[in-house]
Amino acid sequence: MSSVVVDNIGELVTNDSAVGDGSTLGLLSDAAVVVEAGRISWLGSAGAAPAADRRVDVAGRAVVPGFVDSHSHLVFAGDRGAEFAARMAGIAYDGGGISTTVAATRAAGVAELRTLVAGRVAEMRAQGTTTVEIKSGYGLSVADEVNSLSVAGEFSAETTFLGAHVVPAGVDRRHYIDLVVGEMLTACAPLARWIDVFCEPASAHAFDGDESREILLAGRAAGLQLRVHGNQLAAGPGVQLAVELGAASVDHCTFLSPADIDALAGGQTVATLLPGVEFATRSPYPDARALLDAGVAVALATDCNPGTCYTSSMPLIIALAVREMGLTPAEALWAATAGSAHSLRRADIGALRVGMSADLTVLEAPSYLHLAYRPGVPIARALEIPG
Ligand code: NIG
Ligand code: FE
Repeated sequence: MSSVVVDNIGELVTNDSAVGDGSTLGLLSDAAVVVEAGRISWLGSAGAAPAADRRVDVAGRAVVPGFVDSHSHLVFAGDRGAEFAARMAGIAYDGGGISTTVAATRAAGVAELRTLVAGRVAEMRAQGTTTVEIKSGYGLSVADEVNSLSVAGEFSAETTFLGAHVVPAGVDRRHYIDLVVGEMLTACAPLARWIDVFCEPASAHAFDGDESREILLAGRAAGLQLRVHGNQLAAGPGVQLAVELGAASVDHCTFLSPADIDALAGGQTVATLLPGVEFATRSPYPDARALLDAGVAVALATDCNPGTCYTSSMPLIIALAVREMGLTPAEALWAATAGSAHSLRRADIGALRVGMSADLTVLEAPSYLHLAYRPGVPIARALEIPG
């Protein structure tokens, strides 16, 4: 079996406090990582690395675990730049623009969607993301949701059925929910790992707490695991519903009550924060400090979508988390890697340890601190390891 040593790493972030400096990030300086068949077979001091068949010299750069973008809506066609401009001029976001993307996505064929998603995944990888969760949710018919999930599955094992994104224009609400939990779920469950719902009573387009519970329970009965869009536009039932049902993650958490934070602290549900959305919709940022201080597991993701946040950049999200939400650079990197891996219930990604997936991101910088210190500068890229 062919082995590769990634050598001359100036600073290696392992997310393993048992190695290196003993911090949460498990920092090692002058390090090397040996990779065999896509897995890490050894890591430690560069001078002590075992012989390998090939050598990749990263010339003193920092290496971090590949970013895990645990929330994205990459399967879409069309453009909503004008909606963004209107929002910057003061028009509030309420989810109504989703119908524009639904029309464009339905009109695009599978081949066009595949090309669009391939481009977006490549854009993410070029910025250091090595795992991306991909939702459906712009099809909203049985055939179009199946097409969206089929395309998503070509690029990621982390596929999420979001038929309950909004009630499509002109369709009766009760009739649509029956379709989602019936024929659409039956067709989509084999193509997805997760089910998600836009639980947002403040939006006329999204779903209230009871509707969301019904949809999530149907998804669980069909073998899917649970994620929730909750508390994005206003305080509401999303967070507590997610905890009650043991969802792996509740995402957004923009408007949190003290009871929401208590519920998260007492449960197993990760709070996934999406500060690119607050940035791009001019909303208040979530109280990340309160979550962390309460001991809640926090993840960071882009939410890359054409409506509320059209960025594919995890480094931007890390910079926003530090600058706007008060995370330390170490907390932000942890949340964008180990935290988001946990939100996907994945033990093989999000950290660098022997046996884990060799998802390495190299920085054009001496330290991970530069991720937040140099916002907007393309310093991160997923490392291509020769086969
Ligand atoms: O996560 N809030 C619901 N869904 C997306 C936005 C979808 C859109 O506007 O196209 C989100 O913000
Ligand atoms: Fe989203």
